[in-house]
Amino acid sequence: MPVITTIDDLRRIYKRRAPKMFYDYTESGSWTEQTFRENTSDFDKIRLRQRVAVDMTNRTTKSQMIGQDVAMPVALAPVGMTGMQCADGEIKAAKAAEKFGVPYTLSTMSICSIEDVAAHTKAPFWFQLYVMQDEEFIDNIIARAKNAGVSALVLTLDLQILGQRHKDLKNGLTAPPKLTIPTLIDLSTKWRWGIGMLQTKRRTFGNIVGHAKNVGDTSSLSSWTAEQFDPQLDWGKIAKLKEKWGGKLILKGILDVEDARNAVKVGADAIVVSNHGGRQLDGALSAIRVLPSIVAAVGDQIEVHMDSGIRSGQDVLKALALGAKGTFIGRAYIYGLGAMGEKGVTKALEMIHKELDVTMALCGRRDAATLDRDVLLVPKNFEGDWV
Ligand code: GLV
Repeated sequence: MPVITTIDDLRRIYKRRAPKMFYDYTESGSWTEQTFRENTSDFDKIRLRQRVAVDMTNRTTKSQMIGQDVAMPVALAPVGMTGMQCADGEIKAAKAAEKFGVPYTLSTMSICSIEDVAAHTKAPFWFQLYVMQDEEFIDNIIARAKNAGVSALVLTLDLQILGQRHKDLKNGLTAPPKLTIPTLIDLSTKWRWGIGMLQTKRRTFGNIVGHAKNVGDTSSLSSWTAEQFDPQLDWGKIAKLKEKWGGKLILKGILDVEDARNAVKVGADAIVVSNHGGRQLDGALSAIRVLPSIVAAVGDQIEVHMDSGIRSGQDVLKALALGAKGTFIGRAYIYGLGAMGEKGVTKALEMIHKELDVTMALCGRRDAATLDRDVLLVPKNFEGDWV
């Protein structure tokens, strides 16, 4: 086994071990994938200020996200079908997050259910909700999240209809995979994945199969979104959901100052500046590019988090320095999970933590919670001059 030192090492192992359709699902953006690419390439445009002769003892990456203590301000983002990357993937990722001391967010479109994750962890986790047309389903899932001790609801606002990802259509993505000839040929080389899957019962959308009605193909993400998700979701409905939930609320998928202001008006506890990892509106700006303007507009009224493009501790530092109070990683931990299960998620968290800690020290700083723009060199026109 080669020595693993980067998130990209994990990605390469993951690519060898996971079925092609699930690797492609992770490693896709919508349409031309421009936004998906720019989410990472825009991070590279920001440089760091090296500072020397500064005491670098007693460093800390500890902080808080929505008032909860975190070992570093990096939560695990909700990722659909995590339990197809590796058997019982959501339980494994949640356990790794719990041991590390960072929040885990379970997706509505997960394979392991809310109850499964609660039964295997002690720390409260966060639950990401997609709003469905069926109100009874929503009432039920909110009650299930409350019963499981979920400590924050993460409402995703940028996926009421699905942005097209070509590879998923070409691969015939489903959970579990349909055993077509190309899939069988691919699975014949993925024996480690197959053995795990044979040993678990969790192989389809655990939160919704058996709970939601009127779906043609219950194994297909695109059928669920087309037939169940509520295309009429608006700020009025968000306000009602907030009331129904009654706990901490994070609104995910904000990419515009006006929407950020609406999130403040509705009384959310935090927003996640995000373009869904470049998986929804292709052609939208990268999340790191819009972060500064959103922080400038609402940063003193609401906690601002960000995701989309973070692959290293240096990226985390850049987001924090531009005003994010917290960050989320998705692909970066899924690579670890698909490569090595729970150990791989822990490895991804450890690498990001070390990169953040050492980078902070070399920038002459000791506390991740007080990073500011002073540690960065940002190109003059970084946010762009758009009309
Ligand atoms: C669903 O959340 C997706 O991005 O596939």
